Amino acid sequence: MYDLIIIGGGPAGYNAAEKAVHGGLKTLLIEKRALGGVCLNEGCIPTKTLLYSAKIYDYAKHSEAYGVKFAGAEIDHEKVVARKGKVVKTLVSGIEGTMKRAGVEVVKENAEIKEKNAEGFVVKAGDKEYTGKQLLICAGSEAAVPPIPGLREAVASGFAKTNREILDMTTVPKELVVIGGGVIGLEMASYFNSIGSNVKVIEMLDHIAGPTDSEISAILQKNYKKKGVEFILSAKVTSVGTDCVNYELAGEAKTVKADCVLVSIGRRPSSAGLGLENIGVLTERGAIVTGEDGKTNVPGVWAAGDINGKSMLAHTAYREGEVCINNILGKKDRMNYNAIPAVIYTNPEVASVGETSETVKAKGLDAKVESYTLRYSGRYIAENEGGDGIVKIIIDKNHRTILGVHMIGTYASEIIYGAAMMVENEMRVEDVHKMVFPHPTVCEVIREGLFQI
Ligand code: NAI
Repeated sequence: MYDLIIIGGGPAGYNAAEKAVHGGLKTLLIEKRALGGVCLNEGCIPTKTLLYSAKIYDYAKHSEAYGVKFAGAEIDHEKVVARKGKVVKTLVSGIEGTMKRAGVEVVKENAEIKEKNAEGFVVKAGDKEYTGKQLLICAGSEAAVPPIPGLREAVASGFAKTNREILDMTTVPKELVVIGGGVIGLEMASYFNSIGSNVKVIEMLDHIAGPTDSEISAILQKNYKKKGVEFILSAKVTSVGTDCVNYELAGEAKTVKADCVLVSIGRRPSSAGLGLENIGVLTERGAIVTGEDGKTNVPGVWAAGDINGKSMLAHTAYREGEVCINNILGKKDRMNYNAIPAVIYTNPEVASVGETSETVKAKGLDAKVESYTLRYSGRYIAENEGGDGIVKIIIDKNHRTILGVHMIGTYASEIIYGAAMMVENEMRVEDVHKMVFPHPTVCEVIREGLFQI
């Protein structure tokens, strides 16, 4: 008998498990694949490993403008993929070690919820049954593969790949067609463009990078167009063949040849097969419905991470898992979704937090939106020949609180947490004026911008 059974060992689950044990709960963590979940095994970490190699290669190819000449720079994709495997292994075994040291019991099996009885919730994993007084479901998400004619067959044959398979591909496709110009599509388009593939991105919307600020998404598109990525926007994929993708653009049927297709058109919660119906957990389009405290409709059952379909980011998942554990331990806690930073690890990087110019308009907020060139930063100019990065700051006109910060440019991924603190703590423009920023840095542009807004 356990105090808590956690299903799913990704960022939500493993972090929650450690916190639960530290809080004195006898905890069982059940994971069917590898600890670390999508983030560590086929998402955040492997992609960043690949992208870092591509960045080094790009630096070598474009170093002359900085007075450095590399003769014959080459990238060995197979070696990059092998290194990715090593990085993943190191981190997964790190989590295994952390679980062991913390005293979390880990079972590597597929979990299925069977019933609720007088003692608690019964979960079957392999050929054993376990009972927990409470249940935390962190089963994550999987790539959506919609019923586009030929797409499922193409995935089965290996011609089309999701984020999972593309990371282990050791050959470099000559012609890569990416369906979906969102986060995964753009990061992978960036990598394969850097290492020499011809990349075409087919996107349903009239812009790339989904909910990203429109000015920033336009700058990103311009940068990648310059690097040779072709964007086919406002296009509807009609079918996938054995060596091509067919789509419709402005009412016309078109075809594009491909050696490989990446399907990156969103993810959906992995709720099928969990046995949620056996205990009556409420779902909406496959996502477990939770409150800000992580509670589901069934007392004693909690959910965190991608399975709730809310934010689908590893860092949100960590915090959601913590919120659940705090509440289970009787320490009231709630999730705030207003200040969750989002990053696209392209080159240049895109990072944002809070309201965008589009959301303030939609919400009718009395807001001021200003955009500043990163060329205000000496360090940015020193390190970015011809760089066109910007930071966009959104403030509430009446209270002068910082509602949102959006950036495209170097170090954006590392700078954004500072902006997230400003948004989360509802800091006013004048509060930030009193803060000393390090010099010379790119983040100084935020301080400078706040003096002008
Ligand atoms: P996404 O939701 O970011 O983008 C999907 C894109 O596909 C959208 O632009 C959508 O308009 C387009 N689309 C949908 N159906 C289409 C169709 N039939 N034809 C053409 N385009 C179509 O989803 P993505 O890129 O698959 O990423 C999945 C999740 O993983 C996201 O929730 C993302 O937040 C997360 N993720 C986060 C990363 C990060 O934080 N850096 C990196 C990678 C993934």
